Amino acid sequence: MDVLERYEPLVDDFRAFRAACERPLPSVVRVNEIKATPERAMDALDDEGVAYEPVEWHPGLLRLDSTSPGRTWGAYHGWLHGQEEVSTLPALVCDPQPDERVWAACAAPGGKATQLAALADDEGTIVANDRSLGRLSALRFNAERLGVTSMAVTNRDARNYSLKPFEFDEFDCALVDAPCSCEGTIRKNPDALDEWSLEYIDSIAATQESILRRAVQATRSGGSVVYSTCTFAPEENEAVLDSVLSAEDCRLVEFSCALETRPGVTEWQGEAFDRSVRKAKRIYPHLNDTGGFFCAKVEVGG
Ligand SMILES: C[S@@+](CC[C@H](N)C(=O)[O-])C[C@H]1O[C@@H](n2cnc3c(N)ncnc32)[C@H](O)[C@@H]1O
Repeated sequence: MDVLERYEPLVDDFRAFRAACERPLPSVVRVNEIKATPERAMDALDDEGVAYEPVEWHPGLLRLDSTSPGRTWGAYHGWLHGQEEVSTLPALVCDPQPDERVWAACAAPGGKATQLAALADDEGTIVANDRSLGRLSALRFNAERLGVTSMAVTNRDARNYSLKPFEFDEFDCALVDAPCSCEGTIRKNPDALDEWSLEYIDSIAATQESILRRAVQATRSGGSVVYSTCTFAPEENEAVLDSVLSAEDCRLVEFSCALETRPGVTEWQGEAFDRSVRKAKRIYPHLNDTGGFFCAKVEVGG
């Protein structure tokens, strides 16, 4: 079965969508502003003879003319971090402030959690959690390389995460960058759909819902929870939001995004969702020459 065909009813220019999914992904790095400014990072790339092009919508992102950005001098010294362009969106939507406590519920290997730390000038408290100890090793390596000092690392199942070990009892903000079927990573990983199954989608959707519910419960009233996946399946996106909206005290809110996006879908295979899921954003690969992505912002309480 051709997995992407199931999304033909959702995508306006399906031929362009398919063609983009078959092209390799541009190589992008985020400048780590804990250690360097974009200008210094660009000077270092110039000195090394690596060509780059600034990404128009975000001054701290550079498209590199290199398939191994991790081998540059800047990456080695923690000035640069290889991060897919579209995957920088959730931390920007969180917009953490220096005095805030932020929970990255599914944080490894740490691209977004270290970005959260940098956005809060490395002065907030970022609690970076992941269930996988192996992936947390990569997160700790990245946090150290990037010079992050404002991060606590925990190894728990986010579905029943306890705040007892902390001297506070709620977060200001949470980011649920959920485990998912990864359909939108097909440009980076052409094997991404080899193991695709509806059974997996149904089981991971249950996990996503539990993690998102826990994030809403653990965030203060008036705080926000950002939900993101790198997949197209409405079962893992709008359906998860719909369930959490009816189970927890929260609502979806609009947020700005410089990328071209499409609204969340309110109907899928005979199932209707709360109309507010239109406030979520779908990003298809052909719209901005990126991977596929989904992002929503939830405000907690009334
Ligand atoms: C999409 S990845 C996160 C990528 C990460 N946010 C980043 O930017 O580098 C999803 C992560 O969720 C973790 N995960 C899966 N189930 C989990 C659970 N029940 N609790 C906490 N983490 C979980 C996986 O180990 C995986 O690292």
